[in-house]
Amino acid sequence: MSPFYLFLLFLSIPAVSVSAGDLIEVFGIARCPDTSRFVKNQLVPFYEKFKTNFSSDFRLDFHAVPTGGHDVKGHYVNKCLHGAVECALNKLQMCSKKHIAGDWLVVVGCIQGLKSYPAGLNCLPDTEEGKKIKECAESEEGEYLLNDENSYRYNVAPGSAWLPWIQVNGERNKYAEYNLKTVACGLKSMMDKEMCKDENK
Ligand SMILES: *[C@@H]1O[C@H](CO)[C@@H](O)[C@H](O)[C@H]1NC(C)=O
Repeated sequence: MSPFYLFLLFLSIPAVSVSAGDLIEVFGIARCPDTSRFVKNQLVPFYEKFKTNFSSDFRLDFHAVPTGGHDVKGHYVNKCLHGAVECALNKLQMCSKKHIAGDWLVVVGCIQGLKSYPAGLNCLPDTEEGKKIKECAESEEGEYLLNDENSYRYNVAPGSAWLPWIQVNGERNKYAEYNLKTVACGLKSMMDKEMCKDENK
């Protein structure tokens, strides 16, 4: 692949959905203990406990990111901070986000922090969706998804040196790393919700 083609790849950013509501998005990596702590202690418990209470104008997103990529024998291959296992798990997470219509974030949470790809496969649902995720994670579809996440990261969160990097409507929010519910309940779309009453006394 020529350097020019790689440059084009880097520009193949999925259209960022611009919606009127509030967005909390997290950038992280599968083998990072700090990302794992946040995902397991904050993100997933918060999502599971309150997802039915969220405003329809509120969205949570998770981006597993590589550090870059290169051409290997004509195929694009991502690189990840903690090596190939992390890339495999990151791909499994992002393929879950793409192919699970419902609670993909719970599957992402299950995969987070695992030590091996086969362990990650055990997190997948035993359904057609699960099969699609595995196929995606083991093919170019997964490589490109991860590359898209990297492009997105450097466009939307160019300063994201620390992971997990949490942004609320495009701005870094460090406090959210330990106080996700409080931060979510401060948002316009959420503040009047019953679940936020005790936060906003
Ligand atoms: C959250 O939603 C559930 C089910 O929709 C409801 O039973 C519960 O009362 C809600 N909790 C809060 C705190 O709003």
